Amino acid sequence: MSLKTLHIWYQQNKRDLPWRHTQDPYFIWLSEVILQQTRVDQGLSYYLKFTTHFPTVFDLAAASQEQILKLWQGLGYYSRARNMHQTAQLIVANFNGVFPDNSLDLQKLKGIGPYTAAAIASFSYNEPVAVVDGNVFRVLSRLFEVAVPINSTEGKHLFNQIAAEFMDKKHPAIHNQAIMELGAMVCKPQKPLCGTCPVRAICKTYSSGNFLEFPVKLKKLKVRERHFNYLFIHFKGEVQVKQRQKGDIWEGLYDLPLLESEIKSETHTILNNVYECHPELRGIEFTIQRKTDAKHILTHQRIFASFFELIPSQKPTCIQESKWVALEHLKKIPASRLFEKFQEKLNLQEDKI
Ligand code: ADE
Repeated sequence: MSLKTLHIWYQQNKRDLPWRHTQDPYFIWLSEVILQQTRVDQGLSYYLKFTTHFPTVFDLAAASQEQILKLWQGLGYYSRARNMHQTAQLIVANFNGVFPDNSLDLQKLKGIGPYTAAAIASFSYNEPVAVVDGNVFRVLSRLFEVAVPINSTEGKHLFNQIAAEFMDKKHPAIHNQAIMELGAMVCKPQKPLCGTCPVRAICKTYSSGNFLEFPVKLKKLKVRERHFNYLFIHFKGEVQVKQRQKGDIWEGLYDLPLLESEIKSETHTILNNVYECHPELRGIEFTIQRKTDAKHILTHQRIFASFFELIPSQKPTCIQESKWVALEHLKKIPASRLFEKFQEKLNLQEDKI
């Protein structure tokens, strides 16, 4: 059946890459750590630099952090290079330079997750454990027309299960590399080369023509950023508060009158907007200062709140839907979380009001 076809295709078409000429777990590990960071064409020169400078795990362990960071330069994510160094030192100190021979023990090492552990264990030790990376997700989702999102918890379990079932337990190394190579070279994200695919005869989305719709991904929630400018208008021990209206997430709770803006606002903008949005306050002079800022995170929104203190020259009329409340009674009314945060900060500086 097609597993054999896939393996033959791999043997005949695989790219000639240096880490494919070795089963040494040290070299396999180096290549996988580098390839997590970059594409094969760029990763190649890093792999050659590392293996030339540090031909054994003992050399890497004995290197200075600076030497390693210098060779890693350009790959980014420098914590990976530091983890690599620590893991090399641990392998030398605890395992006499020999990598653990199974994926579970490999995963106990810093910087080695399920993917890298499966790659090392299968390529070096022929353990029948499936590698599941982006390429494999794509190949399997298209092959079996799996519509469960690959970035959902259910999807991750399901694809691990499918990959394990699809695994050729007699030839784990070839099998894993063949699927990855198929994903990289044939079953490409945008323009798959189905005409040359060795498994198209059993590919469900090849027959349905739906291959570009797979894999399915959950769209990341768009988080909206909002800037709330709260008006802390107080006069002779009283403050104007406003009840949140129907349909609002804080419906029924109290907070301060507010002006929303696209970006963080300065005091002079706020004062202009106060007069523009609240004609009932025109004619009253205010001294204004930014009192404090607070952040509030919701599922779909990040709210950046600024609280502006406005002290009027005379008692103004109430802003629409607002009412005066004595400062010492504030604690008794139900407050929105942001207003509560403001009150907490205010209490710290009560003497300054
Ligand atoms: N990408 C990640 N690991 C790889 C490997 N071993 N060969 C080719 N591409 C890869």
